[in-house]
Amino acid sequence: MSKPRVIITRKWPEAAEAEAKKLFDVQLNKNDHPMTVAELQEALRTADAVCPTVSDTISAEVLSAQPLKCKILGNFGVGFNHIDLNAAKERGIIVTNTPDVLTDCTADIAMTLMLMVARRAGEGERHVRNREWTGWRPTHMMGTKVTGKTLGLIGMGRIARAMAHKAHHGFGMKIIFNDPYPPPKEIVDNLKAESRNTMEDVLQEADFVSLHCPGGKETYHLINKERLALMKPGAFLINSARGDVIDPKALINALKKGTIAGAGLDVYEGEPKVQEEFLTMNNVILFPHLGSASTETRVAMGMRAIENVNAYFNGEKPRDRVV
Ligand code: DGY
Repeated sequence: MSKPRVIITRKWPEAAEAEAKKLFDVQLNKNDHPMTVAELQEALRTADAVCPTVSDTISAEVLSAQPLKCKILGNFGVGFNHIDLNAAKERGIIVTNTPDVLTDCTADIAMTLMLMVARRAGEGERHVRNREWTGWRPTHMMGTKVTGKTLGLIGMGRIARAMAHKAHHGFGMKIIFNDPYPPPKEIVDNLKAESRNTMEDVLQEADFVSLHCPGGKETYHLINKERLALMKPGAFLINSARGDVIDPKALINALKKGTIAGAGLDVYEGEPKVQEEFLTMNNVILFPHLGSASTETRVAMGMRAIENVNAYFNGEKPRDRVV
């Protein structure tokens, strides 16, 4: 029997590409270029499955490709706000994602952003590299203590829980959160976490606010001028979720005016473009969407996408079906 034809839109770690080659008649993206609308449509016309990733926009236009051969989009990534799910559904295409395997690494990056921005680590590193350091002194580059402070989580899903675990059990932080679908009681108890009725309550009380909600229409510019104004002047905002959850203009103004003390960003509205003003600010840590970027996790993400696509072709229910 011939193998299903699968197109992988971007370069994957070697081990995951090797596994895909074993199971499928696979087309790889050897030079790792971002695929155009026309290329994505051609993929949908010619492959049984397409494996896109979070930087491919799978819009209604892309999904309008005719005639359609593709039966399943095995997304490489947990987030799926780049895929028009309604359009996929209308065209009868299954969509899967890769949860679980990236939880810890993404939480680690949120922790890294929090520690770096609080302790002025980016600024300090630049200071040394620029040969500006003149030596230790009691008042040099004083930052903000993290241990024992209050971490406020907006969204309490897998990644937020993992961050809460590290922050509470590793750094003695008090955890408060707001989520319309709170975690089971035993998880909350283990973290000695406290639920707050509204996001605004969390913003007002936390020393560090970390965002863990999905992207998309419902959370677009959730963190705006008014909500930033609720935060403490000494508080920090961490975003490892999706860029468009924050109104970047409002954040830039808040950072300039001292409404909040700093921000740690892994994601941006309109990325890979980063708002010019962030680049000049010392109280902002800027990462290039590194959340899941460890070799172990990226291999696991590829394997999970393969598992989903393979399950479909074996007549089984893919375990991470989104629609
Ligand atoms: C995802 O998977 O959605 C992340 O943003 C990239 O790992």
